Amino acid sequence: MHYLPFPRNRNFVEREGVIEMLEGRLLADSDGQRVALVGLGGMGKTQIALQLAHLVKSSTQKYKDYSVIWIPALSMATFEQACTTIVNKFGIRYSGDQDPKEIVREFLSSDKAGKWLLIIDNADDMSVLYGSTQQPGRIADFLPASDDGRILFTTRSQEVAVNVAGSCVVELSEMGPEEAKALLQKSLIKKDQTQDDELVGELLLKLTHLPLAISQASAYMNTNKVRIKEYLRLFQNTDQDMVELLSSGFRDGSHYRSAQGAVATTWIVSFNQIRDTDEDAATLLSFAAAQSSPTEAENIQRQSSFGSALKPERSSQPAAGNSGKKHRTIRAYGEY
Ligand SMILES: Nc1ncnc2c1ncn2[C@@H]1O[C@H](COP(=O)(O)OP(=O)(O)O)[C@@H](O)[C@H]1O
Ligand SMILES: [Mg+2]
Repeated sequence: MHYLPFPRNRNFVEREGVIEMLEGRLLADSDGQRVALVGLGGMGKTQIALQLAHLVKSSTQKYKDYSVIWIPALSMATFEQACTTIVNKFGIRYSGDQDPKEIVREFLSSDKAGKWLLIIDNADDMSVLYGSTQQPGRIADFLPASDDGRILFTTRSQEVAVNVAGSCVVELSEMGPEEAKALLQKSLIKKDQTQDDELVGELLLKLTHLPLAISQASAYMNTNKVRIKEYLRLFQNTDQDMVELLSSGFRDGSHYRSAQGAVATTWIVSFNQIRDTDEDAATLLSFAAAQSSPTEAENIQRQSSFGSALKPERSSQPAAGNSGKKHRTIRAYGEY
């Protein structure tokens, strides 16, 4: 029995050794109860977890006894919703008014469940996992434990990673040039253009080899029938153009509906961290503030990356004329 709400990604690009490493740390190792896959938003953590989940689910030998279960931990609500579905799907018996989260925890912690691999996806927020004064509930209370169970967490937060998995943390960074090229090739309709190594190299560099950015750029080029050369030209115009280009019209079946609006901001955060230049940070931030719903803006603001971008004392010497921009950004946030 499995609960895996997303299909396999047909365009999946292998990431050097990552699946094998997770397999080894999580499934081959008898002590490997919990592993965290950590990295910036858009690096491809969820996709890797999904690939591993399907590998185990479709295994006819090594992992044939395993149940595969997927729970999104974006918020307590998504966690609970998945638990309700799992209780029904697995036909787990429970008494009267029991909490579905507790039912799933008890079931998976018991011998009845057999072997299982649980994916706790997008466990990005420390306060969702471990609670806070404003947020009394904590997902950590509902994580099952069994000698036959393994948990893979995906998270943007190193703090979450260490808290849930101790030293069993696998870090994911940008794609290598070959992987990035493969993703571009798979994503573009007009594939002939990818023969031009120089052009492709320039584009991928601009996209910082971030899988999410490559997907978004490809979606734009496909939708608007724009070729790489022209896209690069558009890209070069202004920062604002760039941000709009990348965030427009991007739809991806494997993203959670509730997270879709945040895709652009997720990317912006990562981009911000990778490029780490004040001017870009300011422009991108003001865009994010204008686009985000209040909750998204709050979420973003809580992330340390944004925190540091917002604090003038931590920035390098701002160029003349740059500070005005930054103040606008801060004001835009203040309005929420
Ligand atoms: N290995 C991969 N193969 C193909 N596409 C990928 C891969 N990794 C990431 N992507 C693309 O990038 C997007 C963001 O990846 P995702 O796994 O959601 O990132 P994360 O979970 O790290 O935030 C995906 O929706 C997909 O379009
Ligand atoms: Mg993810």
